Amino acid sequence: MDGKSLSSFSMGKSAQEKGLPYVPECYVIPTSQRASLTPDVVTVPTIDFGRLKKGPDERALVIGDVRTACRQLGFFQIENHGIRQTVLDEALSSATEFFKLPVSEKAKFMSNDVHGPVRYGTSLKDGLDKIQFWRVFLKHYAHPLADWIKYWPNNPCNYRETMGKYCSEVKKLSMEITEAITESLGIGPTYISKKMEDGMQVITVNCYPPCPNPEIALGLPPHSDYSCLTILLQSSPGLEIMHTGDNKWKQVPQLHGALQVHVGDHFEVLSNGLYKSGVHRVTLNSDRTRISIASLHSLGLEEKMGTANELESEENPGRYKESSFKDFLNFLDNNDLAEGKTFINTLKVDENK
Ligand code: OGA
Ligand code: NI
Repeated sequence: MDGKSLSSFSMGKSAQEKGLPYVPECYVIPTSQRASLTPDVVTVPTIDFGRLKKGPDERALVIGDVRTACRQLGFFQIENHGIRQTVLDEALSSATEFFKLPVSEKAKFMSNDVHGPVRYGTSLKDGLDKIQFWRVFLKHYAHPLADWIKYWPNNPCNYRETMGKYCSEVKKLSMEITEAITESLGIGPTYISKKMEDGMQVITVNCYPPCPNPEIALGLPPHSDYSCLTILLQSSPGLEIMHTGDNKWKQVPQLHGALQVHVGDHFEVLSNGLYKSGVHRVTLNSDRTRISIASLHSLGLEEKMGTANELESEENPGRYKESSFKDFLNFLDNNDLAEGKTFINTLKVDENK
């Protein structure tokens, strides 16, 4: 196997999709990194985006809440985001239908080429990484929609329509969040809006089938997202964030209709470390399939993200090297994420900070 294209050797071999009654050795996580089946639940800052448009005083309060959440957790959730519930529900249900298809149908999209615009896989890098994860995914580029939608699955037959609708609404929302975040950094709402508008949107549709021993495997290992920001829609709980207050993993509760927002690595860079890209992971359960749709928003593929000059000073010099989304893909190509090396650490001028 050349590591880029997958031979029929690994097709249809994934334990998650076979519904095995046990967890194979290659999915077993070291004891110290295992998840609790009864995790603490985190109080997630919940921001009512409807208030952003209710006049300058109200907006200033919301921007203050965004700033606090980004500084403390690198994570918040949004209600009143303006995307109709049916759009959310239909995106989740066509994702569910896609994963129910026979492996032979999904395998048409199978690839370990991290640069590919559409790919299906059954761990981080199928068959290559030392520890596998109890996850199946479909990733695809989504902006500009007209350029990419033709490469997406057309089985189930409404996949393109329902996912396309969700993606374009989420893209609009990502612009409002970007504006709120740069405003909250004191550099104004339009600081990078043009570059973000023309930037990348990568969708990861995740499926976590029931796991016979959820206490010894993970759906996704601890990581931060390589985006500027990520918007997540989940069908049920399973996402955990590292709580910076007491360094403990805590579960994000389900709030019907809300969307979760992660600060990604590139907003950490933009903010000179004032905002932290939040570390998160996914835990499993033994009775139901969990579906999530992560929408990662970044600048253009080769556009470099650096720290805002306004946020650097003599006392507070720049702490990060600039990098592009493509630089991240190259990093991913050459590293095994399960081994704990992170992209954001490679960007730090002083790795110990
Ligand atoms: C991701 C991710 C969380 C989830 O795809 O980067 O963190 O709940 N997903 O699936
Ligand atoms: Ni993530």
